[in-house]
Amino acid sequence: MSDSLRAAAVRPSVAACRAIEIIEAESAYSQHLCAPPHEAARLGLAAERMGSAAVILTRKSKNTMYNKLAALGQASPATERQVDRFIDMARQHRVKKISVPLGDGMRPRGLPRLLESRGFIRGYPNAKLWRDGSPLPPPHIDRGRGVNETAHISVRRVRPSDASAWVDVVSEVWRVFGFRRAWYEARVAAPGWRHYLGWIDDEPVAAATLFIGTVGAGNRAVKVGHFVDGVTLKRWRRRGAQAAMIRRRIADGRRLGCELFTSETAPPLPRMPLVSFRNLQRQGFELAYLRYPWNLEI
Ligand SMILES: CC(C)(COP(=O)(O)OP(=O)(O)OC[C@H]1O[C@@H](n2cnc3c(N)ncnc32)[C@H](O)[C@@H]1OP(=O)(O)O)[C@@H](O)C(=O)NCCC(=O)NCCS
Repeated sequence: MSDSLRAAAVRPSVAACRAIEIIEAESAYSQHLCAPPHEAARLGLAAERMGSAAVILTRKSKNTMYNKLAALGQASPATERQVDRFIDMARQHRVKKISVPLGDGMRPRGLPRLLESRGFIRGYPNAKLWRDGSPLPPPHIDRGRGVNETAHISVRRVRPSDASAWVDVVSEVWRVFGFRRAWYEARVAAPGWRHYLGWIDDEPVAAATLFIGTVGAGNRAVKVGHFVDGVTLKRWRRRGAQAAMIRRRIADGRRLGCELFTSETAPPLPRMPLVSFRNLQRQGFELAYLRYPWNLEI
């Protein structure tokens, strides 16, 4: 599949590859914990740490983004026991489909074979992107029209009292956010999470989220900014809103000490949409690697 890649991978260090996976696990775990109790019960949420890896389960969802064992084999080599515990937890929790996304840097190298032996099948990959904490490039100027593509977008951080406006925008693009309104509204007030709305005049037209966490300890600790939930309302697309949301999150993350930023998009493979990928590239992100999920129907 790497033959058909439309972008070259610029791999960060192994430590950074691990941080990319671990911050995803941290964010998923944190997100699962911030649901209000009635919402957690309604959706059947469960979360458990396995060292730096994390299990999250959602009985009401068949989406493996909400039913996964994240960052397996990153901080330390994965064990059979961890995999079997995950499968047992999922069965007990009556979840239908689970996933183990295997990032670069996972250990042991034979982990795919272990997953295969338990019936997991490799799925379609996503792209993991990264950038370091270097300054933002100058804003993109459309030479034909002579305008700064992001100047007319005002990006504002969302306060807990405005959380419903954030969910309104995201749920117009991804309806599931509307069905889980109480959960995502609660996330706006959760530690580590920063939510943003992009405005044109008086109208909120785009939304995005940044989760910031520290990976590692002591003099190896790195602050990482993890990008999620980037959407622009259909009628406002191709006006630079997503670019502005990316730039604001990088600027805030740098100010708060992030040395690494990461995001996930559709892979740069034939027939895949590359709008986000290109937008992230213009702001200094590079492809780190394709990340494959290993899926199991139970
Ligand atoms: C992906 C998505 C967020 C992009 O949002 P957007 O606000 O339209 O993005 P931008 O306007 O910043 O950039 C999109 C394109 O418009 C161009 N553009 C930006 N300002 C422009 C302007 N004023 N006039 C014309 N074109 C412009 C950009 O150069 C970019 O061009 P490219 O696709 O050729 O690279 C949006 O399509 C979306 O919400 N999709 C569904 C959800 C989704 O897939 N989210 C991403 C998850 S990773």
